[in-house]
Amino acid sequence: MKTDTQRPPLRIAGIGCGPRTRIYLKLAAALPECYQVVAAADPNAGRVESVRAHSNNPEFRSFASAAEMLAVPKFADVMVIGTQDALHKEHAIAAMEAGYDLLLEKPIATTLEDCNAVEETASRLGRKVVVCHVLRYTPFYREVKHIIDSGELGEIITLNATEGVGAWHQAHSYVRGHWANVEKASPMILSKSSHDMDIIRWLAGRPCERLSSFGSLTYFRKENAPLGAPLRCSDGCPVADTCHYNSAHYVTTQRTWLSYVYDRIDTATPEEIHEWLKTSPWGRCVYHCDNTAVDHQTVGMEFAGGLTATFTMTAFANHRHIEIYGTKGRLRGGDAVKETTGADIIVHKLDGTGERRWTQETIEGELYAHGGGDFGLMRALYDEIHLEDPRQMTSSLHVSLASHRMAFASEQSRLTRAVVELADA
Ligand SMILES: NC(=O)c1ccc[n+]([C@@H]2O[C@H](COP(=O)([O-])OP(=O)(O)OC[C@H]3O[C@@H](n4cnc5c(N)ncnc54)[C@H](O)[C@@H]3O)[C@@H](O)[C@H]2O)c1
Repeated sequence: MKTDTQRPPLRIAGIGCGPRTRIYLKLAAALPECYQVVAAADPNAGRVESVRAHSNNPEFRSFASAAEMLAVPKFADVMVIGTQDALHKEHAIAAMEAGYDLLLEKPIATTLEDCNAVEETASRLGRKVVVCHVLRYTPFYREVKHIIDSGELGEIITLNATEGVGAWHQAHSYVRGHWANVEKASPMILSKSSHDMDIIRWLAGRPCERLSSFGSLTYFRKENAPLGAPLRCSDGCPVADTCHYNSAHYVTTQRTWLSYVYDRIDTATPEEIHEWLKTSPWGRCVYHCDNTAVDHQTVGMEFAGGLTATFTMTAFANHRHIEIYGTKGRLRGGDAVKETTGADIIVHKLDGTGERRWTQETIEGELYAHGGGDFGLMRALYDEIHLEDPRQMTSSLHVSLASHRMAFASEQSRLTRAVVELADA
């Protein structure tokens, strides 16, 4: 991150003040040499107020909608687009038309056509767009990328990655929550695993040429409901005491997840939260929701030059894991390695010279969200927005579009059971 007197702080504003925009703007406010948080828009006035409270800016401007904010002549440099997936296209294009560069939450949009429309608008208007693939900015994946680029592993032949979403996270977000219904949001491989498609494409460092995918919604279905389980946990469920997914856990052990969807968490009494759960989507029995998102999916990929990769997403494991096999060495990294060895990454050399371990510095608290990726992204954004050529940005619209194409192709393959060729990835 470079700052100098010739480059004043970027004025940054946000559309949609959910947890994502709030964390980005809070981190921006904590970097006053880089950013001035100038405005936010959301129909939920309390959420805008929360951004204002952290902005350290007495001239902060509050708006009730994207349309209201974008009707005002341009007053910021960068606009965060943090509305729900289905609104990204509309808000991203409108903000670019109004003159803003963007920090755009993933996914770019919910269909390939709409992603292309966002890209075409950015190209036509010469706008810079950084897509929030926060994993690219984590110390962990930066080290993996550095090891590959250093040649220590030789030529990369095989890459296997897994993403354990976690059972409660799956239930909260993809069974009860915003991304449960694919028809209203986007397929799981895009809404959740576009991060993984992006990381795999980035680490492979070359285009994916073809892929196939399998997966389904196997567990969170009404056929698996315990006998007598009602539609809502609070309606006298016979297995309430033993059910891992009992919504009453939001009041005790799952408060972090609650905080993402219930704004009054700091002031509400347990009774008020229980009352809210009686009508909220998050109070529903996980076996009786309108969810269509898969709870497990695998993708098999072939990249230019023959490199093969697999990716597995499952609700029933926690955290990410990666194995990379090269002609000179192999790398294993992620939580499974950490749990058993204490190291984050282990590189094993094939020439018999042993192994090398890498352990990342621990950063506590909010700054460490997404493995340090949220903070890493906000630190990098300042420099990246100033780059002459947007294609040099770590997470440009261009590179993100390539991995989004892989996600859309994976869903197509899953649904049609066919290998999908990616001619232009
Ligand atoms: N990068 C990541 O790792 C990551 C993680 C989680 C979510 N996401 C993505 O971030 C985005 C936001 O997620 P979230 O959980 O913060 O969402 P959210 O639903 O909590 O927040 C969206 C906000 O947009 C507001 N909104 C709706 N219409 C609006 C309008 N016309 N003008 C202004 N505001 C409007 C809503 O009132 C709401 O407060 C989603 O696209 C999601 O997929 C990314």
